[in-house]
Amino acid sequence: MRHDDAKRVKTGILGLDELLDGGYRPNTVNVVLGSAGVGKTIFALQFLLKGLENDEKGIFVSFDMNEKSVIELALSMGWGEMVDYIESGKLLIGSNFHVEDIVYLNSELLDFILSNASNNGVRIVVDSFTPLIASLSFEMRKDVNWFFSRLREAGTSLITLEEPLDGNLNDPSITVPVFLGDSVIHMKNIGYGEAFNRTLRIIKHRGSWHAEGVFPYRILRGLGIVVEGSSYVVNMRTKIEIDEILDELGVRREDIPSSLLKRLEKLAEDEVPYSREDIAKIIKRVIECY
Ligand SMILES: Nc1ncnc2c1ncn2[C@@H]1O[C@H](COP(=O)(O)OP(=O)(O)OP(=O)(O)O)[C@@H](O)[C@H]1O
Ligand SMILES: [Mg+2]
Repeated sequence: MRHDDAKRVKTGILGLDELLDGGYRPNTVNVVLGSAGVGKTIFALQFLLKGLENDEKGIFVSFDMNEKSVIELALSMGWGEMVDYIESGKLLIGSNFHVEDIVYLNSELLDFILSNASNNGVRIVVDSFTPLIASLSFEMRKDVNWFFSRLREAGTSLITLEEPLDGNLNDPSITVPVFLGDSVIHMKNIGYGEAFNRTLRIIKHRGSWHAEGVFPYRILRGLGIVVEGSSYVVNMRTKIEIDEILDELGVRREDIPSSLLKRLEKLAEDEVPYSREDIAKIIKRVIECY
């Protein structure tokens, strides 16, 4: 277990937290990027449901889905309890926002989010952020930065981004939130057929380890999004003793610069995402090159 595992915000997506080293970091803005139909809204609902189950509040903001269509999707996934959460006020659906009315990021939208955020772990979803940012120029990057800072104060957020069908990710409406977000998950529907039809990749996770590579996922009624392949990553986590490894390498503690020793001790605080043999090789190389 990692030293800050208890502090992570579980995504609620089966098999994903292991790939994020325990989940999202609290008070962060997390991006889910993907084209139409990859499961972004299902991801967002699952993220909210996980919080609601732990007695956290949820806020769902959408420009194209009203409460009725959110409920329809939840019911089709077998998540009838979402209706109860909405009725009891634990889950707020903000669907009275219309993009044409939003002239600037600091409009009623942020007021709505901030005024409904409580101090114990609110989860915020903006599904999707694309209409909000589509008209912004690169110069308005600082405004998105500011908007994200306010979201971080309010809780842990998930924003979805629509990937254009032509796959062009160089537009500022994608690059700005991707640069400024604390984590980015890219979901894809390649259409290669069953096992590798749908895949996701973690592009970044600031301040945290994350799994590299492409992981297949499925969308199943009841369970929602299920990511496969994480057991492989989890099995590779090893707890190491620095002195033991130095012994094996025939290196004496006092022959290593104290600054490097300090870093190696930090490395050994958490489990490392490598086998014992591989990490010993890495340490050997680091000592040789330092
Ligand atoms: N009840 C269900 N059981 C299994 N799969 C489902 C179910 N409902 C939806 N799906 C799958 O999820 C996909 C849609 O998921 P979702 O609405 O989250 O996608 P999205 O990325 O938000 O799309 P959009 O860009 O249209 O908003 C569908 O194309 C379908 O493949
Ligand atoms: Mg959607």
